[in-house]
Amino acid sequence: MTISPEKPSMGELQERDHGIGHDYAKGSPHIRHHTIRDRLIGDLHVLVQEVISRTGQCHVLELGAGHGTFTDHLLAAGARVTVTEMSEPSVRFLQSRFHHNPNVTVLHDKDGTAACQAGPLDAVVCVSVLHHIPDYLGTVKQLVERIVSGGAFLSAQDPLWYPRRSRLSMSLDRNAYFLWRLGQGQLGRGLATRLRRLRGVYDDAKEADMVEYHVVRDGVDEEALRDLLAPAFATVEVRPYWSTQSGLLQAVGERLFPPTTFGLVATERV
Ligand SMILES: C[S@@+](CC[C@H](N)C(=O)[O-])C[C@H]1O[C@@H](n2cnc3c(N)ncnc32)[C@H](O)[C@@H]1O
Repeated sequence: MTISPEKPSMGELQERDHGIGHDYAKGSPHIRHHTIRDRLIGDLHVLVQEVISRTGQCHVLELGAGHGTFTDHLLAAGARVTVTEMSEPSVRFLQSRFHHNPNVTVLHDKDGTAACQAGPLDAVVCVSVLHHIPDYLGTVKQLVERIVSGGAFLSAQDPLWYPRRSRLSMSLDRNAYFLWRLGQGQLGRGLATRLRRLRGVYDDAKEADMVEYHVVRDGVDEEALRDLLAPAFATVEVRPYWSTQSGLLQAVGERLFPPTTFGLVATERV
C-alpha cells in the first residue's frame, strides 16, 4: 500500500498501527485477562443463541475483527459471520485463517463504508473498535439500520466518556497505564500521548493520535450510544467495568477501583 505524504486516510493510519505481524493481544485487556475475555465470550454466545431463537438464524457483522480472536467464538455459537477490517495485512490474515470456512466472509473496508452497506444483518458486534472510529455514533446509526427485527447489537472494550468520570477514576486509570508502559519500556509513547492531550494538539497524520482516537481525546460517550440505540431496541444495557493492561492491576482494580471501560448490549431490534 502507498502512503500519501500529506494527510493519510483512516485506512492507511489503521494499517500503520495494525500492520504485518501486529500482535492484537499485546496491551489488550479484553484478550489477555480471563475475567474480561470469558465474560465477553459468554455474552457473544448468549447473543447468538437469543438471536437464533428469535429470527431462526444469526448473520453477524463483526466490525474491525483484527485477527479473528472473537470470530471463532461467534462461529462456535452458531453464527455466520461477515468480518470487516481496514488494515490490509489483517484482511489477508483473516482470509487465510478462514478460507476453508463457508460461514465466514471477509470484507476489506478501506474507508469504513462497506460495513454500512452490508446486510441484512441479524447482529452487529464491535470489539475494541468504536474508539478507533472518529464518527462512531454515525457509524453505529448506519449499522443499526441494517439489523433486522429481533436482531441485536453488542460492543465491548471502549473507554468510558472522560468528562463523566471522577478525578479518582481518571487518575487510577492513568497511573495504571503509565506503570504498564514503564514495564514495557515504552514510557515515552505514553507520556507523548498524554502531553498532546494536555495541550489539546492532535496531528491527523499521526496514527498515535488518530488510531486510538477516543483514547487520546475523551473516551467514548456511552450515554450518547445508549440514547441512539434505545428507540431501536427493546433493551439496551451499558455495562461498565475496570480494565487495564497489567494483569496484577487488573485483579486489584476489579475489586477496588471505579470502572474505566464499558460494554453495551442491545437486544430485540424493533
Ligand atoms: C484494537 S483492534 C481490535 C481487533 C479485534 N476486534 C480484537 O478485539 O481483537 C481494532 C481494529 O479495528 C480496525 N478498524 C478500525 N476502524 C475500522 C473500521 N471503520 N472498519 C473496519 N475496521 C476498522 C483496525 O484496523 C484494527 O484492526
